[in-house]
Amino acid sequence: MSPNSRLPLPGRLILPALALVVAACGERTEQAGQPQAAPAAAPTVAVTPAPTGPIDEALAAQGAELFQQKACASCHRVGGGRLTGPDLEDVTERRAYNWIMAMITKPDSMLKVDATARQLLMEYATPMANMNVSTDEARALYEFLRRDSQ
Ligand code: HEC
Repeated sequence: MSPNSRLPLPGRLILPALALVVAACGERTEQAGQPQAAPAAAPTVAVTPAPTGPIDEALAAQGAELFQQKACASCHRVGGGRLTGPDLEDVTERRAYNWIMAMITKPDSMLKVDATARQLLMEYATPMANMNVSTDEARALYEFLRRDSQ
């Protein structure tokens, strides 16, 4: 006996009808907000090619500064082992560029939907904080991490 069947007949009809309306509305908002279907790992930043070639030293120096300013250094080391978070030495070699950019700018969303991020959370048992890092700042941080992975 479904819990619904105790309701008088109009109630039994209205509840499923409401569910349909709600579902339909949800669909419309999603379509309006995101014309291109989002991939499974939704919170990625704009997909751009990974930087290759020589290190941009000025950008890497800016990244090194941001690593302190944005308190990355309180949870991460680059070489020397883990702290609250993983050692970031060689992270640019073991992870994809767009994944790293997404993790730096939107760790909270990544920890909700991305399988790799969730696995790291199980391992480290502390969620990485969202430090309000812009895409440009993340790019500088990436260059710093790329420099120190070579
Ligand atoms: C509060 C501590 C904390 C702060 C602050 C923090 N992180 Fe993290 N970070 C973590 C933890 C913990 C993980 C592992 C995933 C998890 O548990 O959330 C992680 C994961 C990462 C990863 C993925 C590492 C891998 O091995 O794949 C990158 C890259 C990263 N952080 C970069 C940064 C950068 C850059 C900053 C500064 C803007 C930063 N983090 C600030 C704790 C932190």
